[in-house]
Amino acid sequence: MAAEDHEAEDGATRELIRTSLRDTLFVEAGAGTGKTSALVDRVVALVLGGRAIERIVAITFTEKAAAELRDRVRAGLEAAREKYTASETTITEALASLDRAQISTIHSFGQSLLYSYAAEAGIDPSFRVQDEVMAERRFQERWRIYLENLAEDQEAGSAIDRALGLGLSTRHIEALTVELSRRPDLATLLQAGCPPADVPVWPDLKEMSALLEGLPLQMPPPDDRLVAKVKRLVSLVNELLLNETDRESTLAAAAEVLEPPWRISTQLAWGGKENMDRVLAVGADVACRLNETLQACRSQALAAVLPVVVRFVIEDAHQRARDGALTFDDLIVLVRDLLKDNREAVRSLRARYEVMLIDEFQDTDPLQVEIALAFATDPESGALEPGRLFLVGDPKQSIYRFRRADMAIYSQTREAVETGGAVFPVLALNRRSRGILLDWINNVFSTLIGPGWKQDIQPGYRSIYDGRRSGDLAGPGVAWIGGDAGEANARQVREIEAGQVVANCLAAVEEGWQVAEHNDTVRPAAFSDIAVLMPTRAVLPALERAFSEAGLPYRVESGSLIYRTQEVRDLLNCLTAIDDPADEVAIVASLRSVAFACSDVELAEYKATGGPWNYLSPRLEGMQGRVADGLRALASYHRERHECSVAALVDRFVAKTEQVVIGMLDAGNRNSFRRARFVVEQARAFEAAEPASLRAFVNWMESRAGEAILDNEGAGLDDDEDAVRVLTIHGAKGLEFPIVFVAGLGTAPTNRPGAYLIDRSTGETGVCIGSKYANRRFMLGPVDRLIEFENRHTDAEYGRLLYVATTRARDHLVVSLYHSKRALATCGARKLIEHGAKDHGQKRPELIEEPKLNKRAFEDLEPDAAQEPAECEFAERRQALVAAATKRRYTSATALGG
Ligand SMILES: Nc1ncnc2c1ncn2[C@@H]1O[C@H](COP(=O)(O)OP(=O)(O)OP(=O)(O)O)[C@@H](O)[C@H]1O
Ligand SMILES: [Mg+2]
Repeated sequence: MAAEDHEAEDGATRELIRTSLRDTLFVEAGAGTGKTSALVDRVVALVLGGRAIERIVAITFTEKAAAELRDRVRAGLEAAREKYTASETTITEALASLDRAQISTIHSFGQSLLYSYAAEAGIDPSFRVQDEVMAERRFQERWRIYLENLAEDQEAGSAIDRALGLGLSTRHIEALTVELSRRPDLATLLQAGCPPADVPVWPDLKEMSALLEGLPLQMPPPDDRLVAKVKRLVSLVNELLLNETDRESTLAAAAEVLEPPWRISTQLAWGGKENMDRVLAVGADVACRLNETLQACRSQALAAVLPVVVRFVIEDAHQRARDGALTFDDLIVLVRDLLKDNREAVRSLRARYEVMLIDEFQDTDPLQVEIALAFATDPESGALEPGRLFLVGDPKQSIYRFRRADMAIYSQTREAVETGGAVFPVLALNRRSRGILLDWINNVFSTLIGPGWKQDIQPGYRSIYDGRRSGDLAGPGVAWIGGDAGEANARQVREIEAGQVVANCLAAVEEGWQVAEHNDTVRPAAFSDIAVLMPTRAVLPALERAFSEAGLPYRVESGSLIYRTQEVRDLLNCLTAIDDPADEVAIVASLRSVAFACSDVELAEYKATGGPWNYLSPRLEGMQGRVADGLRALASYHRERHECSVAALVDRFVAKTEQVVIGMLDAGNRNSFRRARFVVEQARAFEAAEPASLRAFVNWMESRAGEAILDNEGAGLDDDEDAVRVLTIHGAKGLEFPIVFVAGLGTAPTNRPGAYLIDRSTGETGVCIGSKYANRRFMLGPVDRLIEFENRHTDAEYGRLLYVATTRARDHLVVSLYHSKRALATCGARKLIEHGAKDHGQKRPELIEEPKLNKRAFEDLEPDAAQEPAECEFAERRQALVAAATKRRYTSATALGG
């Protein structure tokens, strides 16, 4: 299709948006085609058409987007007032009422509805929405009480006992409960029916015993691993034969032996191939049959535990409603339930509002869909009422699966509104990016995303065309850096990549790349025109170091990234050190942090003179120097730790060690100030309900760092701040920047499916909890299939994430393709290369000498987020180190001691 045809088609769509106010419209179009702008136009058209602004609901994804949308509606109305003088009074009235208009997130909308219908919804009318810290503490408390009271409920008690006997830990039951508490829609689903459990069948143990007896176990040397494993099987089978009463637990205790590997010996040891093959076949067969029985027992046990968990989740949700202490998720669930059960509420909602407009519809959660459809459906006829809904979205930009967005729900809704008579006008002209960028985007994603729907997993790619038609700008258009980094490991790749990204940010300004304002005025780029986007937090530490070393101002914007910043981690290390004099890893890390600024040389010298890391050790007394002073300071905070609140302690620690001042002088920006405040604020929130221990606070903060947090509340730059923005791709959704760097694509996405699995296209569900190491998992339902299904979603969504990232750029796009030789083919860098990212873009020259690949001191102590499962493993490893260090009291847990 020629550009003029797109022009005509887009023009027709815009006309439709302005004029067919009595139709349901669903504008499904690619990135930057003006969907959000179309939504604004529709609001203005509705006002011009005589709707009171208070009777319009506009819903978007984040508070920030909602504020921006309100501003854009204001600007739209003001422009319309100039243009349509006849409607001046109407528009002036709308402008005067704009602050009261329901332009918000779905959560704020839900909250305002619940205030009106508190009685009907069964909630305390003076309810409050708890912040996450409070909600979590409340949960912990109530869960503890629930478990204690279970002693009186014999059935529930024995269900849990059985599961524990089979190797489940209470931690895993709690993890499932937490997850279902956050997804109460699933709890209701489960209440209606659990996935079916397997029925255990015990194999013929006597036959097994005879089979094993016949093996030549005397043949190999006693230290042969295979013979040891088979002997354990023999004694397990014998034990099972003897112990008829508690077979399950006996079997569970030997779970590890039932798993591969089996090829752990040599033919030589077994006197030839024939012997060895027989042992392998019999051993693996016996183990496999016993494992099937074990898994079935676990499946049954889990099926019995599930209702106990679900009962708590549902009771606790009711209790929160009665107490008026709601969580964010409650807001949506309660509104959905209200509209499902209460016709009067539906009628009155439909009377109060005339139209609902939803932006970013591809990331809508299933409950929000139900709310929208309840609003738009005529309760008498059951049909969609035309003109009630206006939806805009781009399925290729759906990236919030971890927050329940689902392609299957999207296509089901699409079908439902289509059947209900919705019109699907098209927009194809991109108004954001230069044509040179769009060519690259179309070339790469037409194959990376691919041509068609794959079973509700991936939407088909549709090209976007240049609607901006801007002139040439100095600078590269689309450029790439990096590629296969040879022998470098994942960490080293990130160091090299960070250096190059920062050098290129600097070059963009120094080389005088040009950017165009919205009115097409061209000017040289400033740092604040640049955004560095990344899929995860893994590259952040390296990137921050590189920014600081280059003295280049930058600002980390996405909320969840803050937990991974050096300052916050340093501070948490200091707090851990203050809390626990035996935590040598934390103590050494604190000494190295800005708080005490000890160099590696100083630390090594201190250790060489026999100095203890434990700051309560009497041997510290005579020691001199900066390290010893630091340890004494830690000791004094340790003694004071119970005398004040955690927040006050953090506050004082930050002030006394002058971290903020040092940070500002050192890095030349305000990040250290913001981050110190952030930790203090978190501590304050954590303690709001009741005093908490330092340890509890640190644990909580660390668990936050490991979680996927809804990442959307970037704080924006201060007006006077010329700094590069750093944010996650999730945080950049819906936004645009003149210059975009995409980095951190050297790591493949990891699918960490939750405890609860669901395929919304078939309705199949499953539960999978417990560690996958050492055969500790408990599974219920078709878990393997659902995990495989989830993997395909993860891969498809990652492709969309790359599309979101690269379509944020207006004038220049630089993609970093760094990856290690061993990086998986599913990592972003390799995917992009495979789909022509290099062929269609230009290579940037390497700007600085690449750093030498020396191992840094203490490197082993830092979490390597790319090496999965990073965060939790780091925590575990650190605990192990600490435990070891505590035993060997005067040996360092760090490289220094060894
Ligand atoms: N009709 C138009 N004429 C000129 N510029 C426009 C028009 N519509 C939108 N724009 C500009 O194009 C850019 C992209 O618009 P908008 O953010 O509405 O797109 P979008 O489709 O919502 O993008 P995304 O897919 O990222 O959400 C913005 O800078 C906007 O100001
Ligand atoms: Mg948009």
